[in-house]
Amino acid sequence: MTHPSIDVLLSETRNFPPSEDFKAKANSRDASVYETAARDPEKFWEKWAKELKWDNPWKTTLDWKPPHAQWFKEGKLNACVNCVDRHVLDEKGGEHARSKKKALIWEGEPGDTRTLTYGDLYREVNRFANVLKKIGLQKGDRVAVYMPMTPEAVIACLACARLGLVHSVVFGGFSAESLRDRINDAEARALITADFGWRRGKRIELKKAADEALQGTASIEKVIVYRRDEKEPVCTMKSGRDLWWHEEMQKAAEFTAPVSCHAEDMLFTLYTSGTTGKPKGIVHTTGGYLTGVYATTKWVFDMRDEDVYWCTADIGWITGHSYVIYGPLSNGATVFIYEGSPDWPEKDRFWRLIEKYKVTIFYTAPTAIRAFMKWGTDWVKRCDLSSLRLLGSVGEPINPEAWIWYQEQIGGSRCPVVDTWWQTETGAIMVTPLPGLTTTKPGSATRAFPGIAAEILNEEGQIVKAGGGFMAITKPWPSMLRTIFNDDARYQQTYWSKWQGRFYFAGDGAHRDEEGYFWFMGRVDDVMNVAGHRIGTMEVESALVDHPSVAEAAVVGKPHDIKGQALVAFVTVKEGVATSAALAEVLKQHAAKKIGAIAKPDDIIFTADLPKTRSGKIMRRLLRDIAEGKALGDTTTLADAAVVESLKQKYAGTEE
Ligand code: WTA
Repeated sequence: MTHPSIDVLLSETRNFPPSEDFKAKANSRDASVYETAARDPEKFWEKWAKELKWDNPWKTTLDWKPPHAQWFKEGKLNACVNCVDRHVLDEKGGEHARSKKKALIWEGEPGDTRTLTYGDLYREVNRFANVLKKIGLQKGDRVAVYMPMTPEAVIACLACARLGLVHSVVFGGFSAESLRDRINDAEARALITADFGWRRGKRIELKKAADEALQGTASIEKVIVYRRDEKEPVCTMKSGRDLWWHEEMQKAAEFTAPVSCHAEDMLFTLYTSGTTGKPKGIVHTTGGYLTGVYATTKWVFDMRDEDVYWCTADIGWITGHSYVIYGPLSNGATVFIYEGSPDWPEKDRFWRLIEKYKVTIFYTAPTAIRAFMKWGTDWVKRCDLSSLRLLGSVGEPINPEAWIWYQEQIGGSRCPVVDTWWQTETGAIMVTPLPGLTTTKPGSATRAFPGIAAEILNEEGQIVKAGGGFMAITKPWPSMLRTIFNDDARYQQTYWSKWQGRFYFAGDGAHRDEEGYFWFMGRVDDVMNVAGHRIGTMEVESALVDHPSVAEAAVVGKPHDIKGQALVAFVTVKEGVATSAALAEVLKQHAAKKIGAIAKPDDIIFTADLPKTRSGKIMRRLLRDIAEGKALGDTTTLADAAVVESLKQKYAGTEE
């Protein structure tokens, strides 16, 4: 198991109080904030919201008609202005001191580099907003973004925000079909993509996948294509539909007025996996979301003007939205972005980047940390990491050994480690240490951020003070999802039905220790977490069943040293189909083609039938046991049907 059992976790006695030095300078130093924020969360959040730039003030801080919240509802603002203009122009329209400050420092995988000051970012975003405006897009229209990690990915999102367009970013590792489904669900009018991006020395041809996706999308009118390398563009362009980014930028106006948005206007939708086969478009709005990411960036990462901040997430995930774009830029921070893989050309790439750019804050995922551990400390030791002053972790539970390794080997036992628990749905970090205040324990995300009412509840919705249960949020918070795009019924059902509309159900299991610290244990639903990426069992099952040889499929997660979880698929084939190792390989590739490489099962186990309960539910517990090798020893691609049969006997009569 990558995450030890709860008994082991709770007996974890190592703890790390903040250093005197860190404590003395931290942005958040007053521990009484937990209590004052809990007493009046609205007042707490209002104070944060006031640090943003608003065109019109709000009257109502929170309008809560469960399960629908509106925050700062009469207020008007623009997210792009808060992330860019505010750092370039002062109150009187003169030049702001930050306009010459670096906003984005970028390095591509092959080693090409670019730096954009806030002034540069302002010019780029204004021009690109003009490009979007000229193709006829209007406030509220959805725009799909399918980009490599380049400054243009950030510029694209900010330009959408400037015009009140709703961006829907699709991770560049997703397949053409996944892109098509997301475009169709959001009814996006335009797509912003690139000819290609670099990954492990290979060109990932995004435009080619986009062309395939666009064969099945009626809503897309225009495609804007960023040329990753001027020397060799690698795609074809469809006349009348496709436009080159660089050509349009040359023709664009220098200034494009920002559109003043209502606090509750949609800022973006981002698709994430759930328990059905269909990903859901999580809806985030403008004022509350920005307040949440602004506040958490400032306090959790202790963000200051002189920092060089690096969050390794791709903008295709929520972490990229909140902690590459909106959180740090609304704070006027310097953000470092890297395009490629951590082991390219060598396994020390990340450490070389930290050394080269003097990164001070580093935020990554446990799956990456476990890979670094496996690669060994020699790669780390040859680089100077003394610029680092704070480390963060996100995406899945971090096992104590990985936490300690991170803290010692990367942080030089000098940097606080913040393990941050949150979700696409929560918009911003929810459970986390505050680095100047919280004594950390390896493996625990510690406490709720001030103003967040996080609890563990039992089945009946009663609070479990110390012990295990379901993770829940019992009061609305500004950056919460507002709904699921075009499917409010699913929103109510997924997040609010467990306790009759009273509390938000997160889908995670967690424990709370005697001191009230949270210890996360993973999902309690049919959502898996592979290398920090959320993936639904049903999505992968649907992809497999789509193959002509497959009759039925059931997918479970098995523990994996590096990825946290790996996918194991149990497959029954159609009459007359012969099972073989070759077919298993074909099916793995099929899942990867349908969804993306993250959905490729590690193992395919052929079985004559799938074990089901009397009510017809697949017995996942049994399958998980088989996948974990509890009964089988090493799993092989061709499981002996008799083994499945004997396990079935063992579990016979038990309903899951
Ligand atoms: C898991 C990523 C334990 C959790 C920001 C959650 C975590 C899901 C942590 C959301 C953490 C995220 N400790 N588990 N620090 N952070 N998770 O939507 O299961 O991609 O429900 O958001 O990741 O994944 P999502």
